[in-house]
Order: sequence, then C-alpha cells, then structure tokens
Amino acid sequence: MTHSASANSEHNACNITSASAPASEKPVKRMTAGERAGIPPRRMDFEFADNTQRYWYRNSPFLTTFWSTLSALFPEGETFFVDSVRNYRKDITDPLLKDQITGFIGQEAMHSKEHKAFNDLAEKHGLPAGKLDKELGVLLRFARRTLPKKHQLAVTVALEHYTAILAEQLLRDPSHQANIQDPEALKLWMWHALEENEHKVVAYDVYRQVGGGYLHRILTMLVVTLFFFAVVGSGHLRLLAADRKLFDIKGNLKGFWYLWGPRGLFPKLLPQYLDFFRPGFHPSQHDTVQLLDDWREKMLRPGGMLADQIKLRSAG
Ligand SMILES: [Fe+2]
Ligand SMILES: [Fe+2]
Repeated sequence: MTHSASANSEHNACNITSASAPASEKPVKRMTAGERAGIPPRRMDFEFADNTQRYWYRNSPFLTTFWSTLSALFPEGETFFVDSVRNYRKDITDPLLKDQITGFIGQEAMHSKEHKAFNDLAEKHGLPAGKLDKELGVLLRFARRTLPKKHQLAVTVALEHYTAILAEQLLRDPSHQANIQDPEALKLWMWHALEENEHKVVAYDVYRQVGGGYLHRILTMLVVTLFFFAVVGSGHLRLLAADRKLFDIKGNLKGFWYLWGPRGLFPKLLPQYLDFFRPGFHPSQHDTVQLLDDWREKMLRPGGMLADQIKLRSAG
C-alpha cells in the first residue's frame, strides 16, 4: 500500500517559470517530481567556519563526538540507501511512489554532500571522520556485492526507521536545539531531520510494493541493530581517542548518561523503535504532520532559520 504524500504538504519552493510568460498570463508553476510528492530536495550550501566551537553539542566532547560519528557515517550510508531504492525504481508503476523515490534520492544526495562539508570541519578539529566514512564504504560495497537486492532494501528500511525516529526527537525535543550551540550546525541537523521525516515512508513503501514481507523486515532490523551499535560505538570510541578524551571518565559518564540514562536519548526512542516489530506497522503511524508543518514554517518562511541558505529553489 502506498500512503499518501498529503502528509508532506510542502509550503516551499515551487519553481515559478514566470520570466518568459506574457504579463497578461498567469505564471506557470512547474513542479519537480519531488515537490509533487511533498519530498522536495532543497539545495543547501552550509559553511562551517574554521572557528566553529570545537564542542558544539552541549559543550561536551563525548556528545559532540557521538553526533560527529553519526555525521561521519552519513555520506556512504545514505549513498547506500539511495542505491538500494534505485535498484527497484523501474519496477514501481505507482506514479506517486515514483515521484516519492525521485524526491527521496534528491534529498539523500544533498544530505551526503552537506554532511561531507560538516565532516571536513571535524577533520580540521583532528577527528578522523573521513576515515570512518571510507571504512563504512568498504563494508557497504561488500554488502552490495554479496547481499541480494531485497536484503539491501530491507537494510535501508531498517536504517530509515532509525533516522526517522531520531530525527523526530531532534525536531520535537527543544533540549537538542538548545544543546547544538553552533548556529550553522543547528541548521544542518534540523534541515536533515525535517527531510528524514518528509521521506520516511518511501523505502518502506517500495519494500512493500516489491513483495517485502514481515519476517524478513524484522529479522533484518535485529541484525541491523547489532551492526548499528557496533559501527557507531566503535566509531565513537575512535573519535574520542583522537580527541584525547577517552579517559575523561567524568565527562564520558555524564555523556553516556545523557544518551542511555532512564530519560536519555535512546531509552526515549525505544517505544518508537519497537513499533517497527508490529506486523501492521507503517512509518506514517508516527504522526509528524503538524510537527513538519511547524518546522517548515520556522525554517523556510522569509527571514526563517534557512533564509540565508535557501535560494527558494529546490534541486532536481
Ligand atoms: Fe538523510
Ligand atoms: Fe533518509
């Protein structure tokens, strides 16, 4: 079943081709496929200043290196997501889902590009973000060669669930916005979080349309969860070591509590994570319609958070 993209009503960025229209005629709106589906790729070009605060998340080395680890893994990770969905594009006949796929590919490609720029900043701070990404690339190329395409898509469905629920928490919980102390980094993470929720149904719906089943989906999620924590956990330790903070016991325990304490980031995600294991689960059941409307308003209106970024043109 393909769920409607109406939940993703887009307030921004239709390309208006008015320049060549006679004055007496109304301007013609030309929408891209992504815009039609409510998943418009938006061109961004963030600039992270060299003097960006080193510990930009809550002034904490532990938490800054945690988020930097996630960022380091995005370029290769999201390229894998794109490829695994693109593998099935030709098999999809539903015009809405086709448009959603186009929007999804465009958004993820832009995320990879902007997180690379953010990772360059981490490199300037002495963190081997590029190395983590390269190593993940090797692992994912191996996965592409060895796993059937249906498995690759199921991996993407599982990881897109992670990104969607994590992104929802970033958007909903004002403490994250207060904790991200660099304004350019705040824009990057909030823009990415918005778009992750705009396209959260796409991989799932493609998986269902090409016959992906329940058991395969949840078994893949269990394996992916093990890999996710192994890859993120080991990457985080390496960034902490590079930052010479591995033995900052007090700071690390405090950061660990922030992530894993009873009111921490991961325990708060648990109910939504577990929803994935229900047979009738669909990502749209996590209702973010109002949340996304509010954030689009906050970011995309004239003078909004992304006013200096968005040239009010979407990509692709
Ligand atoms: Fe993304
Ligand atoms: Fe995504």
